[in-house]
Amino acid sequence: MPIAPRDRLIVALDVASVETAQALVTQLGDAVSFYKIGYQLAFSADGLHYARTLADSGKQVFLDLKLHDIGNTVAEGVKSASRLGATFLTVHAYPQTMKAAVQARERNLQILAVTVLTSYDDRDLMAAGYGAGVRATAAERAKQALEIGVDGLICSAAEAPSLRSIVGTEMLLVTPGIRPAGAEAGDQKRVMTPAAAIAAGADYLVVGRPIVGADDPRAAAQTIVAEIARQDAKVA
Ligand code: C5P
Repeated sequence: MPIAPRDRLIVALDVASVETAQALVTQLGDAVSFYKIGYQLAFSADGLHYARTLADSGKQVFLDLKLHDIGNTVAEGVKSASRLGATFLTVHAYPQTMKAAVQARERNLQILAVTVLTSYDDRDLMAAGYGAGVRATAAERAKQALEIGVDGLICSAAEAPSLRSIVGTEMLLVTPGIRPAGAEAGDQKRVMTPAAAIAAGADYLVVGRPIVGADDPRAAAQTIVAEIARQDAKVA
């Protein structure tokens, strides 16, 4: 089943309070169906409870908590996240962590693995004690994620084609670093337009500042969804 263009856009609620998040969600209305909650909002007062509120209101929720701990702790955390009604939850792509998360997921929760953080380069991996560089490590972890039965990977759109060749259509690719033509890149180094990211094989696009910081967030979201729809129509 192809995913509807509107449901392929995930808006990152990178704001400091539930009140600010709710004001944005109200403003975006039916233009957006999927929201990402990361550390900033999750660890604010009532931030995690807000994930439940959003899910109960019919929105899909992506908890970007990048879990990594001993298997039992990951498993119990994943069970709690399942009960919040989240659709996606991120973990770091270590085999033990991925196995624990996949075995513990309940309800409709899907596990997404972060192969190598995009802020890491080869030197950072070496400093952390790894013998391989970013490309080889990301490829190895993608293979492990596939074998373990992880539902999807977080990756930059630039990595999507090579990861797709490893994981086939079995796994979802979820890509941040999206900038509509003309938008500020901010601290993102490798950005792609929504259409280019979809063409590169992304299933879902995560967009923060180009929507959250727009003068008219609803119009910004609608423009991105329209761009996704045009790209989908080309392929169909
Ligand atoms: O504002 P912007 O569109 O750059 O936000 C992208 C979102 O995706 C942020 O919430 C950021 O934390 C997240 N993200 C990212 N790069 C990754 C993983 C997550 O930008 N590799």
